[in-house]
Amino acid sequence: MCGIVGYTGFREAYPILIEGLSMLEYRGYDSAGIAMINDQGLSVHKDKGKVDHLRSITNQICQGGPKIGIAHTRWATHGAPSLINSHPHCDQNNKIALVHNGIIENYARLKDKLIDDGIRFSSETDSEVLAQLIGIYYEDDLEMAVRRALLEVVGTFGIAVVAHDNPTEIIGARKGSPLVVGVGENEMLIASDASAIVRHTKKVIYLKDNNIIKLRPDQYSVTTLDNHKINAEIHNIEWDADSLAKGGFEHFMLKEIFEQPETIENAMRGRLLISEGTSRLDGLNLVLQELRGIQRIIFVACGTSWHAALVGEFMIEDIAGIPVEVEYASEFRYRNPIIDSHTLVFVISQSGETADTLAALREASHKGATVLGICNVVGSTIARETHGGVYLHAGPEIGVASTKAFTSQLTVLSLLTLLLGRMRRISHSDGVTIATALSKIPEKVRQILKQNDHIRSIAEIYAKHNNFLYLGRSYNFPVALEGALKLKEISYVHAEGYPAAEMKHGPIALIDKDMPSVILALKDAVYDKVISNIQEVNARGGSVIAIASEGDTNIQKYARHVIYIPETIAMLSPLLAVIPLQLLAYHIAAIRGCEIDQPRNLAKSVTVE
Ligand code: G6P
Repeated sequence: MCGIVGYTGFREAYPILIEGLSMLEYRGYDSAGIAMINDQGLSVHKDKGKVDHLRSITNQICQGGPKIGIAHTRWATHGAPSLINSHPHCDQNNKIALVHNGIIENYARLKDKLIDDGIRFSSETDSEVLAQLIGIYYEDDLEMAVRRALLEVVGTFGIAVVAHDNPTEIIGARKGSPLVVGVGENEMLIASDASAIVRHTKKVIYLKDNNIIKLRPDQYSVTTLDNHKINAEIHNIEWDADSLAKGGFEHFMLKEIFEQPETIENAMRGRLLISEGTSRLDGLNLVLQELRGIQRIIFVACGTSWHAALVGEFMIEDIAGIPVEVEYASEFRYRNPIIDSHTLVFVISQSGETADTLAALREASHKGATVLGICNVVGSTIARETHGGVYLHAGPEIGVASTKAFTSQLTVLSLLTLLLGRMRRISHSDGVTIATALSKIPEKVRQILKQNDHIRSIAEIYAKHNNFLYLGRSYNFPVALEGALKLKEISYVHAEGYPAAEMKHGPIALIDKDMPSVILALKDAVYDKVISNIQEVNARGGSVIAIASEGDTNIQKYARHVIYIPETIAMLSPLLAVIPLQLLAYHIAAIRGCEIDQPRNLAKSVTVE
């Protein structure tokens, strides 16, 4: 999941590359590097550490120079983060430099053979094998050398390559790792995603698997790996660079939490039909008769998207009466799932690039299933490979811990539930009730956000605790999982999410005064049961932070702290209940001094298996 950026044009490359890397740091940030071509040939600077560190060691030496370069920010797979393992990698004669995102699966065999042939390696990475191969084949045609080398490797790659004696040309190629090309006026950019490009041009080409692109400042050409010419389509990016800035918030995560009233609104705009009590999801590309024939749905996802899928399962089974299964993409892809002609598969992914989710999509497609997507990133691989789908329209999510994408996913799943439910089980008036409740969610989220200070004061009390339990039932069991995941991801505090009643089959043994429980105790069908669970925690000396329905004064008898949220119908309650949990995790991490937007070991877009 590394970040790649390249530039060739009439401007100085260095500031564009460094700024581009900063935009891509969410993809990986354990080391960074840059290669440019000057009069003496390749000039490569790299080190372990973040992009800011690279900036500090290169600022003086790289300014005012070359108009071409490639750069990389790394998330280690093969070889620990270190100077030698950082990208760019060069061949042994420093003829070419390469940045790579992905994994070369047959690198060990290739490396042994190259060593036998007398090639000297300087890193432990799989990527260097590719650099050495390209170096061997390069004489004066870089594109041809890249093509020959790529034909020998097995695995995934998004690469950008430059040659020491060619100060205008970048070769890019992809298979399984995203690459987008920015087409400017007498300048071209290439990057792992459009956030590194959008400041310079909004015209982009999304490279497809097995495509190679040759870039010069004033021209480009796209071919397949086996050298067939392709007419690549140019797309227009619809968001602008401002949406990538922190907008006065201390972290992207906090900004994104606070954006949720708007992003939820955006997810339903033009889709929610209140007076008809249904929704309209044209992107599914399915006619209503086809949707009516569905007898089973499978949701496939990872991480936070998987939690959204669990809520979707509850919604669709409850309201539309269609059996739903939720699968971890990483498990689904290696099983032999049963998918008949009445099964619809949905893959859910914020980035649209998660390797396991993509592989699951392909597995379901091979089995002949109709596979639809719920994605945020427009033009992402998953969005392109599905038969249809629904975009979240949440704008770029930069914080590694997903927040606004989760609530947008829940919003889209609510719309889907409404559409399927109205075809099958629920009346017009029930549909209007759900649609009206959904339309009021953004305002209710706004009200919850006003309690930010109250939530921070609770975080201050508990920030030093090292273990948390998150409990919820029914619709809010997945919310408990998501709350625990948020805390783990950004504060490195151990947190377990559990169905509240299941707690007594194990986790209850952990409860003592040092292990607080965050309990979702809304006024719904399971309220009384959850109160019993709270008492079980109290009886063992644990303290309870309850997320409760506005007006429920009774809960104060049982919970040490209460965060109130406005009432809504049960199926939509996760959209509200998750907001305090996002804020709680954020504040605990901030108080503990953690790196909130770039937590250790994680990456925003996991494009490796
Ligand atoms: C990574 C991210 C998570 C995310 C998961 C799935 O692990 O750190 O925040 O939920 O991938 O990502 P996706 O883009 O497919 O939703």
